[in-house]
Amino acid sequence: KKVVLAYSGGLDTSVIIPWLKDNYDCEVIAFAADLGQGDFPSEAALEKKALATGASKCYVLDLRKEFLEDYVWPTVRAGAKYEGTYLLGTSFARPLIAKYQVKIAQMEGAYAVAHGATGKGNDQVRFELTYAALDPSLEVIAPWKDPKWEFNDREGMIDYLDAHKIPHTGISKTKIYSEDGNLWHLSHEGGILEEPDKEHKYDMLKHTKTYEKAPNKASYVTISFDKGTPVALDGKKMGAVELLEKLNKIAGENACGLIDIVEDRLVGLKSRGVYETPGGTLLYKAHECLEQLVLDKETMFEKQKMAMTYANLVYNGQWFTPLRQAMDAFIAETQKVVTGDVRLKLYKGNVIPAGMKSPYSLYDLGLGSFSNVEMYDQKDAIGFIHCFGLPLKTRALLLGKKTNV
Ligand code: ARG
Ligand code: SIN
Repeated sequence: KKVVLAYSGGLDTSVIIPWLKDNYDCEVIAFAADLGQGDFPSEAALEKKALATGASKCYVLDLRKEFLEDYVWPTVRAGAKYEGTYLLGTSFARPLIAKYQVKIAQMEGAYAVAHGATGKGNDQVRFELTYAALDPSLEVIAPWKDPKWEFNDREGMIDYLDAHKIPHTGISKTKIYSEDGNLWHLSHEGGILEEPDKEHKYDMLKHTKTYEKAPNKASYVTISFDKGTPVALDGKKMGAVELLEKLNKIAGENACGLIDIVEDRLVGLKSRGVYETPGGTLLYKAHECLEQLVLDKETMFEKQKMAMTYANLVYNGQWFTPLRQAMDAFIAETQKVVTGDVRLKLYKGNVIPAGMKSPYSLYDLGLGSFSNVEMYDQKDAIGFIHCFGLPLKTRALLLGKKTNV
């Protein structure tokens, strides 16, 4: 009997390996995804650790390119921000991890998949909806929701590892924040953040400089898009991973991309989070600027409405759904003209548009300055406003002079 566990090498999943063996009498296959976490251990180190913890095998896959190209970029093209602010860094990582977990389970002939997400969060939903969509025959083991799971704190888990003579070097007894990181973002929850009346502490930040420490001089960066996909930085073509790494660095230096928000979890709880999304914040901004230049008004309107639906869907773990695919098809159609360059000025946390151009620009200088009488005759506006205001006039006449209704 084999179980494939989504493994990180942290305390929770290190306890889950021996716990699964004890309680489910199974062989545990660990799987770790490299999504560009800043502190991601080497493949050899992770494998060594997983085997020392009792796993029979450990898969480590570098999924950074697929993560960006197939999960992050589509969400940027959609302009999706959950509740208007959160750039979804953890949300779209989960379906990708779960997808490979299912693949490995099928390859290995495992009967179940397991994850270490708690029963109070969003991640459990994202893992389990992906398993359901990709292989409903697999059983799901979620220790945190299992009646046999006996742990409430880190102390208890460390005692359990000691009792099983499992080494746990590099695992600290106390952990202040719950973090989740990848190349796109780093999230912080828990600890002092659970008191929304308190300012967050700067010591938690790992990728973003504080506003106070950012340079007194602005930096500039130019991002080029091809059909809505970022393809070059400062005129130099580069792949997704390199591009985001470079953007993270310059944005982080200038204290850009930090948010401190209270969000609504799918399970009904509110949660306070601090998110560092340096490069991602620049990409969203630049993409938005370019769309302002090239999209027609009606398409922009529909697209903005769809962005909200898209964000909810990603947040709620509904990545592998027909609705997401259908929205991607609509978005791809809109992105045919989202090609061009956007220059941004970065200054102490501010991301300021500093010029953009596109071969598909709808901004016509002749029109904007009202000089071309053939394209825009100011007298046309008389009839237009008459018609546009006609319902108002009709109603006013009907009501007589009663202006208080
Ligand atoms: N609240 C964010 C989200 O739902 C971040 C979750 C972080 N997850 C974690 N296991 N630390 O996407
Ligand atoms: C968890 O509860 O496992 C992490 C937070 C979340 O999933 O929202």
